[in-house]
Amino acid sequence: MIDEKIKEKIVLALDVETFEQAKELVDELSPYVGTFKVGLQLYTGFGNEIIDYIKSKNSNFFLDVKLMDIPNTVKKASENIVLRGANFYNVHALGGLEMMKQSKEGACAAAQKLGKKPPLILAVTVLTSISQEVLDDELKVNAEVKGLAINLAKLAKQAGLDGVVASVHELRAIKEACGEDFKVLCPGIRPLWSLKDDQKRIATPAQALKDGADYLVIGRAVTSAPDRVEAMKKIYEEMGVI
Ligand code: C5P
Repeated sequence: MIDEKIKEKIVLALDVETFEQAKELVDELSPYVGTFKVGLQLYTGFGNEIIDYIKSKNSNFFLDVKLMDIPNTVKKASENIVLRGANFYNVHALGGLEMMKQSKEGACAAAQKLGKKPPLILAVTVLTSISQEVLDDELKVNAEVKGLAINLAKLAKQAGLDGVVASVHELRAIKEACGEDFKVLCPGIRPLWSLKDDQKRIATPAQALKDGADYLVIGRAVTSAPDRVEAMKKIYEEMGVI
């Protein structure tokens, strides 16, 4: 039996090269997955086809395209994302308070037009590929990565966004700074039995759940497994729900 509360938290990263591969993942895993995440790679390759396919299955989709531009452009793009049917999307908090506010305004107006509830809008704070050295030496930003990430999370909250994308390691600090209702979506999830791949700040699904993660991004731990359904079942098991 699938625990619906857990299913709602599971976001599967469709990081694949072809429409066929993405479709296969949606077909196999939709009973276990609350939301399918369409990132830049898939979106720029097969965006419309895969979105229509996910929608035809009545599954949710998260458009992970990390918007950042002038506020008016982001507002218009946010409207289109909602009109396209996304249940989630994200923006860079580094785009600033006004940009985030306008994004929300555009998204809410579009949702109202459709008679739907607004999507969840998450902010990306500091990309995990940006190290302290990059901040110091390349970008000349005089800040600690963690402090900057917390400040950007607070700014996203001030703009009225729903939450942020962050590793399980930052989860508690963000909830403490922004409140328990502020959503945190956590990538870098690795069950005990899976490879780390290139992820550095990882956590198990059970740990993420225990620390209060609202959503868990599951990628290669399942998508690269020899038996993907079995891998997904093992993740549910690890979370103590099968
Ligand atoms: O395969 P894996 O579980 O590492 O996939 C992680 C997914 O989460 C990818 O789609 C990646 O883009 C995304 N992500 C991440 N780290 C972040 C933000 C997003 O790995 N800080």
